[in-house]
Amino acid sequence: MMGSRARLVSLLFAFLLARAAIAAAAGSGSRYLTKDARWMKQRLDHFSPTDHRQFKQRYFEFLDYHRAPGGPIFLRICGESACGGIPNDYLAVLAKKFGAAVVTPEHRYYGKSSPFKRLTTENLRYLSSKQALFDLAVFRQYYQESLNARYNHSGFDNPWFVVGVSYSGALSAWFRLKFPHLTCGSLASSGVVHAVYNYTDFDKQVGESAGPECKAALQETTRLVEQQLLSDSRSVKTLFGAQTLKNDDFLYLLADAESEAFQYGHPDAVCPPLVNAKKNGKNLVETYAQIVKDFYIKEMETPVYSYDQEYLKKTTPNDSSN
Ligand SMILES: *[C@@H]1O[C@H](CO)[C@@H](O)[C@H](O)[C@H]1NC(C)=O
Ligand SMILES: *[C@@H]1O[C@H](CO)[C@@H](O)[C@H](O)[C@H]1NC(C)=O
Ligand SMILES: *[C@@H]1O[C@H](CO)[C@@H](O)[C@H](O)[C@H]1NC(C)=O
Repeated sequence: MMGSRARLVSLLFAFLLARAAIAAAAGSGSRYLTKDARWMKQRLDHFSPTDHRQFKQRYFEFLDYHRAPGGPIFLRICGESACGGIPNDYLAVLAKKFGAAVVTPEHRYYGKSSPFKRLTTENLRYLSSKQALFDLAVFRQYYQESLNARYNHSGFDNPWFVVGVSYSGALSAWFRLKFPHLTCGSLASSGVVHAVYNYTDFDKQVGESAGPECKAALQETTRLVEQQLLSDSRSVKTLFGAQTLKNDDFLYLLADAESEAFQYGHPDAVCPPLVNAKKNGKNLVETYAQIVKDFYIKEMETPVYSYDQEYLKKTTPNDSSN
């Protein structure tokens, strides 16, 4: 299982990819190759011989570039977010080049592929990367058969390639390991295959990337925020537009805002303004608050409420894919 930081980080990565997709598609028509949903019946528990319950799994297909009937099939794995279509991004360029079909199933429990209406602890027991891998294997067989039926031949196997990013990158690598007979290859981009408990090296790297001057300014800012939380927590949170958050959630938001600026290649959004404020004797907390609001909340479209523990405890999924 991933920690919530890893989850948020990959969520953010998905945001960024979606944006990159928008940028890439700006010149060449639409943002999506398709948004036409298809459905298959998926097994709820792949590991029980007696539980035959099923749920509806959403998927998408794009065949315009497919060199029928023998061309490759790119299985684009959707990760831990709603999957509303097949983005018109670099994979589309590759599909065109290689005459490939692109298919993408939505990950169980996300978007419209949730087996349960309420995400209680009991209902969440079938949410695992192992179940998700078997979903992919079942989908792969199901889709191959449906394609064979469409092309009127049986027992045929197209060359399949799996592709994923971040968590779905890990799934992509694991899929190739676990089902080598079902794929010709796997692309695992930034695949998170190695879980690290209490991953303090992540923060260490942020400090290194920031450099000594910026790191010192960031640490001083954190100390000042911590002091102000003790004396007047409401006013310091209000500065950041985060007055609704508990103290711990608020500090988590601040730490993420900082580290993700570095992880996603935007040190200039943080360091120059903060270092300048320090040099010119300006208020560091106010400066940092402005950075967080402008860069992290507004530009990177991070909702403050997503840091709220009460929000995370909600058992009704918030499907934003409509
Ligand atoms: C599909 O296969 C069946 C049985 O082999 C044959 O009768 C039929 O003509 C084929 N249809 C097409 C469209 O090729
Ligand atoms: C995490 O690691 C840090 C640094 O080694 C240590 O100080 C801290 O106690 C650890 N926390 C947990 C919850 O293990
Ligand atoms: C659900 O998500 C939307 C954004 O997609 C947000 O505006 C709304 O506040 C969320 N609802 C809840 C209850 O968190």
